[in-house]
Amino acid sequence: MKLSVSGRATAAVTVSAVMLLTGGSIAGAAPAAAPAPAATAAPDISVANVKAHLDQLQSVATANGGNRAHGRAGYKASLDYVKAKLDAAGFTTTVQQFTSSGRTGYNLIADWPGGDTDQVVMAGSHLDSVTAGPGINDNGSGSAGILETALAVSRAGYKPAKHLRFAWWGAEELGMVGSRYYVNSLSTANRSKISDYLNFDMIGSPNPGYFVYDDDPAIEKTFKDYFTGLGIATEPETEGDGRSDHAPFKDAGVAVGGLFSGADYVKTAAQAAKWGGTSGRAFDRCYHASCDTASNIDSTALDHNSDAIAHALWELSS
Ligand code: TRP
Ligand code: CA
Ligand code: ZN
Repeated sequence: MKLSVSGRATAAVTVSAVMLLTGGSIAGAAPAAAPAPAATAAPDISVANVKAHLDQLQSVATANGGNRAHGRAGYKASLDYVKAKLDAAGFTTTVQQFTSSGRTGYNLIADWPGGDTDQVVMAGSHLDSVTAGPGINDNGSGSAGILETALAVSRAGYKPAKHLRFAWWGAEELGMVGSRYYVNSLSTANRSKISDYLNFDMIGSPNPGYFVYDDDPAIEKTFKDYFTGLGIATEPETEGDGRSDHAPFKDAGVAVGGLFSGADYVKTAAQAAKWGGTSGRAFDRCYHASCDTASNIDSTALDHNSDAIAHALWELSS
């Protein structure tokens, strides 16, 4: 089983150890059943699967003029790829259409059937790239991370107490257009049912940092505790308050949080000392550039951040 700092997982380990010690020594006793997994333990997210999604998004860009930007063929093809995976896994998907800069844009919303729909835990990532390149770290990484987490929800047959919703936003690179459209389209009642919105925009930066959004304290603690359990130091993300799709949710009064591995800011010597990588160099030198390809990814950061997404979604929805 995967390492966990949660009390329930620790209890499960203890029980299985006791069974191991006593199970064979009770004459005539039925063999001990395998311990039930802790109800809140998230599965390990396969980084190979996340990277396979990134390879598909790279292929989409390559086949469509080198990008997946709003209003271009590569955007809709990206959405079709993600939607097909979710539909096959049993999600209820909705495509929300809007217009920006004279071009049609799309959000993809995927609901996992079940849970209390008065308490919605939501994860979102923007699926569009800039026109300059394929946008694999920005933001294929977040898009693939939440996609693989959604597929893991399905594989686990997870029955959360709260309702789970995933979203892939269009036209973030034009100023969070898709996510703002979605928030504005909600009735006041439906907006108030969103308990948490978790945002993932750039989670596989090639010279990575581990930044946790400094917003809702409970969400922030959920992420920080996870990384502490891995022995990885984090820093609060304060730069991004207005810079990604959590902003419209925050403006509407929703509790928000998220993860970020760094963009065009330069890694300091102190940050390189705690995280490795190269000081004096940007977290992502290919930010918004043509070189933001499938090779512009640190697999270890992508793996830890994807696992953290699953951990937080399980913990916040159980
Ligand atoms: N898509 C964001 C942008 O282009 C990426 C980004 C930069 C970001 N800095 C951030 C996301 C800080 C979250 C937090 O601006
Ligand atoms: Ca993993
Ligand atoms: Zn982005």
